[in-house]
Amino acid sequence: MSRRGSNEASPSGSPRLLRVEEEGKTHLFTETLARPPSLYGERVQERPGRSFRFFDPFRSKLAAALIRDPRLPLPAPGARWLYLGAAGGTTASHVADLVGPTGEVYAVEKSPRPTIRLLSLSARMTNLLPLLADARRPTEYRSLVPPVDGLYLDIAQPDQSRIAIDNARAFLRPGGLLLLFLKTASLGRDRSTETQVRAIEKELGREFRLEPPLSLAPFHRAHLLLTGRSVAVASPRPRVEQRPAARRILRSPPIVRAAKRPLRHRGGPRS
Ligand SMILES: C[S@@+](CC[C@H](N)C(=O)[O-])C[C@H]1O[C@@H](n2cnc3c(N)ncnc32)[C@H](O)[C@@H]1O
Repeated sequence: MSRRGSNEASPSGSPRLLRVEEEGKTHLFTETLARPPSLYGERVQERPGRSFRFFDPFRSKLAAALIRDPRLPLPAPGARWLYLGAAGGTTASHVADLVGPTGEVYAVEKSPRPTIRLLSLSARMTNLLPLLADARRPTEYRSLVPPVDGLYLDIAQPDQSRIAIDNARAFLRPGGLLLLFLKTASLGRDRSTETQVRAIEKELGREFRLEPPLSLAPFHRAHLLLTGRSVAVASPRPRVEQRPAARRILRSPPIVRAAKRPLRHRGGPRS
């Protein structure tokens, strides 16, 4: 894309997000951690000393949400995120870009086939940590994931609010951010979409201070984003480094973790 005639707004929400306005359209790019800079064939924009890769709103619901709402709260540099439903890692890799080299993204996917691609992407991004696990069973990865600043859900399951709450209780720090993507077609047909969404908001509303749902049309039809902040008052659980079993479990199935580097048991979560 030519920079001629384009209007680069100052990165809104994140210093690692580049927003280019061109011919009435918004194009998003994340500052890439991958070397070479393109991870899956996406185009790259170079800036002095920095490389940004295209964040496609038709491939990623997060990119679509960022175009629909430029003030959307974002994964911050240095933050730690738990990402449920990572699939092959397309969006998770951009979240890893956004948290940058000092942040971490724990990417949970239950299906082995996309996990193969997730593993191969993560081999080129040291802060993207794949876990082959079922998000309905956070106890399976509880020993591996430290407290997090943000929880991302994109699993298109009817019980996703329950899954969000269970994972938030296990991992999310008080005040932490929730980004939950709802595929309204997968909510079931026994009640209207509005009724179903209201029920989900009610359930999540006990644990999160929610913003109104954001539609992702025209990029993703029948998809909504629910954003919220955890209202939990206590720390979700003891810090990982207090539990000696964690390192042993890292090496045992069914959880696969790309062994790119030893798990760093850092201090508590960061804001
Ligand atoms: C819509 S896709 C995710 C796309 C991905 N977030 C992206 O933007 O690149 C949903 C994924 O959630 C996974 N999934 C569904 N139920 C799950 C569960 N209980 N635990 C973990 N992953 C699950 C599916 O296997 C699928 O890969």
